[in-house]
Amino acid sequence: MHLITIAVAGSMFFAVAAQAQNAPGGSAERGEKIYLHQMCHNCHGTVGQGGGVAGPKLAPNPFPWGAFAQQTRKPRQAMTPYSEKVLPEQDLADIYAYIVSIKPGPAAKDIPLLSGF
Ligand code: HEC
Repeated sequence: MHLITIAVAGSMFFAVAAQAQNAPGGSAERGEKIYLHQMCHNCHGTVGQGGGVAGPKLAPNPFPWGAFAQQTRKPRQAMTPYSEKVLPEQDLADIYAYIVSIKPGPAAKDIPLLSGF
């Protein structure tokens, strides 16, 4: 039981570490809370899947760190900007760690319940 938990946590860590190159270290667990607290999910969905017209999908395969941070601080278009005052740098790094940790869902063909559709 504990061994499985450690193995899963360990593999997640390596996936995050590999993708988050150049990004400051962040905690995906803390990032998820901040992501929800800052209302990012209102427009981008709870797992970054996108919210239709409100905001594009953020994950899987997120923007590289530089572009991600730039967009959050100085959005290109309609998105609300988040200054360092409302969203400290560490919080943004944690959000990024959370976004990077989101795995793609299974393909529809691999979900037995959907195989008849
Ligand atoms: C009010 C709705 C709204 C909220 C809240 C919001 N966003 Fe966005 N976001 C958008 C829209 C709309 C875009 C498309 C580009 C633009 O309008 O600047 C976007 C684009 C992005 C992008 C670039 C992705 C792409 O494919 O264009 C990132 C990264 C992003 N948002 C991160 C965040 C984070 C992190 C938060 C919370 C701290 C957040 N957003 C909160 C609406 C929102």
